[in-house]
Amino acid sequence: FIPGNSIQEAVQPQLAKQAASKEVTILYGSQSGNARGLAKNVEKALEANGFQAAVSVMSDFKLNQLKKVRNLLIIVSTHGEGDPPDNALTFHELIHSKRAPKLDELHFSVLALGDSSYEFFCQTGKDFDKRLEELGGTRLYPRFDCDVDYDEPAAEWLQGVMGSLIESSQTQSSSVSPAASQQQAESVYSRSNPFKAEILENINLNGRGSNKETRHLEISLEGSGLTFEPGDSLGIYPENDPALVDLLLHELPWKPEEPVTVKPGDVRPLENALLSFYEITILTKPLLEKINKLSSNEKLQRLLAPGQAEKVREYIKGRDLLDLIRDFGPWGTSAQEFVSVLRKIPARLYSIASSLTANPDEVHVTIGAVRYKANGRKRNGVCSIFAAERLQAGDTIPVFIQHNENFKLPQNPDSPIIMVGPGTGVAPFRSFMQEREELGAHGKSWLFFGDQHFTTDFLYQTEWQKWLKQGVLTRMDVAFSRDQEEKVYVQHRMLEHGKELFQWLEEGAYFYVCGAEKNMAHDVHLTLLEIIEQEAGLTRKQAEEYVANLQQQKRYQRDVY
Ligand code: 2AM
Repeated sequence: FIPGNSIQEAVQPQLAKQAASKEVTILYGSQSGNARGLAKNVEKALEANGFQAAVSVMSDFKLNQLKKVRNLLIIVSTHGEGDPPDNALTFHELIHSKRAPKLDELHFSVLALGDSSYEFFCQTGKDFDKRLEELGGTRLYPRFDCDVDYDEPAAEWLQGVMGSLIESSQTQSSSVSPAASQQQAESVYSRSNPFKAEILENINLNGRGSNKETRHLEISLEGSGLTFEPGDSLGIYPENDPALVDLLLHELPWKPEEPVTVKPGDVRPLENALLSFYEITILTKPLLEKINKLSSNEKLQRLLAPGQAEKVREYIKGRDLLDLIRDFGPWGTSAQEFVSVLRKIPARLYSIASSLTANPDEVHVTIGAVRYKANGRKRNGVCSIFAAERLQAGDTIPVFIQHNENFKLPQNPDSPIIMVGPGTGVAPFRSFMQEREELGAHGKSWLFFGDQHFTTDFLYQTEWQKWLKQGVLTRMDVAFSRDQEEKVYVQHRMLEHGKELFQWLEEGAYFYVCGAEKNMAHDVHLTLLEIIEQEAGLTRKQAEEYVANLQQQKRYQRDVY
């Protein structure tokens, strides 16, 4: 175990001597809620140490407000191809524009969240860090780039930032209250202390003959104190596939019982560590580099020689630890050295498919089983196949709630809502409908659902029909892509009903999209622009402003993956 081994590329500190203000502004940009959660914790910790902290989401913060800020902390994640989260997009763009003010008086530090299995790791955080310096700002503390397991590096960054703020504000007390930096949200259960929840039900929603397998899981939260709202997500810590662990152990020179220390005070047999503690299914460049440092394999050295980023990218794509060992092993390390280069299995987040009001003490999720073939071997999605093949009623799994303020029903139950959710993207809308049924909400609602085939893939069909009948759901348009020659997708249905859709928007409707980012959500976005152009007689640029305005009013919300 290497403490803080996920902190990378830390920039040299330029300690600020004159950040003498006790006011600290915390700006966050968050897609799935991690950066937001951290920002709130940092706020509490700063206040506990006598600072006046103000936390704000980037989308609510005006660029010229920056001129007045003396101490700024930025906590921001990166997603996709180095992209900022939706609620950081505009601020990110503006600060990089010519309109950005000079910031000579500013002291700042950036906490970047990301995933090192992506090429543009922590890119958004890096962008802000660089830009704030260009604008004249001074670093209070170096940027930290956190990998998926961010708790430890984030706590370390906070300690460092706090120390620097205290030093520069000449506060009497020179030590940081550790309790404050560790503060957690409401329930005792959290990402770092998950609740062991019992599976109540686990069924396949797809009919016989479908190309897909979509699991509906009902999980008990009884006794956890955990609560959530429609739009929130459930975090699940999965176990690796025992068959894959067996194959790995077969290649490795150590016995399955060989003890390894996975963290201070936690010694386990190697087999168990590979099964339930370490990530074995994803390769990252940092992992290859660490192994290269530990061992001397000429082939691996050649692959990692400078100037071959593209080759490395190609190699790690669709390959796992078993491939790496078969291609470049053995390494002549100890079992302990070997596991020390691995990352912890990160939790997987699933949009919650139920309402706590409708199903007290329960949480439901909708999980699409991921199975595919790559580089000559069958591969499985870690958590989805864990759920599909190895979880039964009565089993327990470690879970936590991830709040998502970016995906919420309107405050006003009379506001109309439009929901676009093909495939498993429909999950949060089941939660929305359950909640609105319980509340007796009067707002109109419109669902666009799509999947491959009507007969086998119409997820939760009878429930939508019940809600339509009751009037909880006002209208539903479906697109079954493979029931005819031509592909028909949700966005085609939107376009067919563009006139009414625009009318709904004009009446104040909230527009929600959940599901695959790359194809679906992207195309839905373009279709939304097209509809607005057409129906309002606007140019593309004006339509973009219309959508930006929807976003500003939180009337365009996305939960995409
Ligand atoms: P397909 O698999 O037949 O291409 C849920 O997975 C549904 O989303 C499926 O019907 C799938 O269709 C469809 N889908 C695939 N790509 C899409 C895209 N770019 N936009 C909208 N739906 C898409």
